[in-house]
Amino acid sequence: MPSITVESCTFALFGALGDLALRKLFPALYQLDRAGLLHADTRIFALARENGEAQQHLASIGEHLLRHVPAGEVDKVVLQRFQARLSYLTMDFLQGDDYDALAEQVGSGERVIAYFATPASVYGGICANLARVGLSERTRVVLEKPIGHDLESSRAVNDAVAQYFPETRIYRIDHYLGKETVQNLIALRFANSLFETQWNQNHISHVEITVAEKVGIEGRWGYFDQAGQLRDMIQNHLLQLLCLIAMDPPSELSADSIRDEKVKVLKALEPITAAQLSRQVVRGQYVAGSSDGKAVPGYLQEENSNTQSDTETFVAIRADIRNWRWAGVPFYLRTGKRMAEKMSQIVIHFKETPHYIFAPEQRQLIGNKLIIRLQPDEGIALQVMTKDQGLDKGMQLRSHALQLNFSDTYRSARIPDAYERLLLEVMRGNQNLFVRKDEIECAWLWCDQLIAGWKQLGDAPKPYAAGTWGPMGSIALITRDGRSWYGDL
Ligand code: BG6
Repeated sequence: MPSITVESCTFALFGALGDLALRKLFPALYQLDRAGLLHADTRIFALARENGEAQQHLASIGEHLLRHVPAGEVDKVVLQRFQARLSYLTMDFLQGDDYDALAEQVGSGERVIAYFATPASVYGGICANLARVGLSERTRVVLEKPIGHDLESSRAVNDAVAQYFPETRIYRIDHYLGKETVQNLIALRFANSLFETQWNQNHISHVEITVAEKVGIEGRWGYFDQAGQLRDMIQNHLLQLLCLIAMDPPSELSADSIRDEKVKVLKALEPITAAQLSRQVVRGQYVAGSSDGKAVPGYLQEENSNTQSDTETFVAIRADIRNWRWAGVPFYLRTGKRMAEKMSQIVIHFKETPHYIFAPEQRQLIGNKLIIRLQPDEGIALQVMTKDQGLDKGMQLRSHALQLNFSDTYRSARIPDAYERLLLEVMRGNQNLFVRKDEIECAWLWCDQLIAGWKQLGDAPKPYAAGTWGPMGSIALITRDGRSWYGDL
């Protein structure tokens, strides 16, 4: 039985027949039900524009659910109970009258969780209508990314929502914050004095954050081409990871203490001007190559593509943080589509010992590394130096990993999907894992400057073959500082 209790609530899922809802949200709600974390009275309204028989839409939601929940985790009793919670309502999200029917069905009293899996352009309209039918007072709203495409447009969306909802009832999703290993960063840093005492420019030489994806654009060309990898991944996921690594210890584990510290990091990010772009940033775009041994098309040959596009599918950045803790410690960020593997990891490189006494040819081995593997094979490894065993080895050094592999350690437990954690925390009213308005704005400010520089210089992306680690320039970016990406040695 779960050790936490959740109140009964009503989910109003806007955009219920969209890809996110079908692939992630319904399966996550089902898993919460299976884990005993949905109250017996909780109901779920699937809201979408599509007309037609409600039963047919519910059947299609059920089919998708079975496709996205592993067979071994489908429990017939839970499935029946879960399906009994679902209702379907056809709604035009900007049409006031449709909300009367919703309010009537939701009834009075219960907490409502309104999840906006829709374009951000309708968030304001949904909020106004929820307020008009008297639902706003008891509603928490959940906003999906992207919230705008720059500082100005994100402000417009946030301001429209803020007319009807206080910040304490707005939950902005960055699904990376819901990943188990990402949450573990907080435990790793602030529950272990061993690391925290070393966590600064006296002991750390540099930090790498890589989020590599193997997939290409997969039918999302229209959206992606307007965004590009900087807006799609760096502005949110990678900067959130950077904040969790770089922030000062919060005074308590409350949402605002954590978010205050993250905002300080974002404000301390050194702006990257047009003059610094060629040394600090590499943009790439994949061309045809191969993935898993199969030939795959380039970005400009993907379905519905525009062959002239200069949108980047890869970015590598050297970011610097202007504060006492991190002065002189570069953070190398790297993310791309159609790369060699799907892999997200953070590598903290510790400085060498102050005085080196071993064989000169072994010097490149020196320097401890903490490798935090976010996906796949979630775990943590600490590279330490030891003496190689054997009479013939003298004082030959060897780098060994102290490993903590989460799937081995918690062998019987499945690792929950990020959306399960996030939906649970919304039900519990805990905003720790959600992004505050000022965080989003600071992140946009930094990214906007960088994008303005690209525009000013007319910087075209460098090609890289699908199935590789990105353009050669991303290697030069780090080797120029006398370093290499972890694993490239
Ligand atoms: C989303 C991006 O936010 O994150 C996608 O819009 C990207 O382009 C996805 O593929 C990656 O998430 P994950 O959890 O698969 O690493």
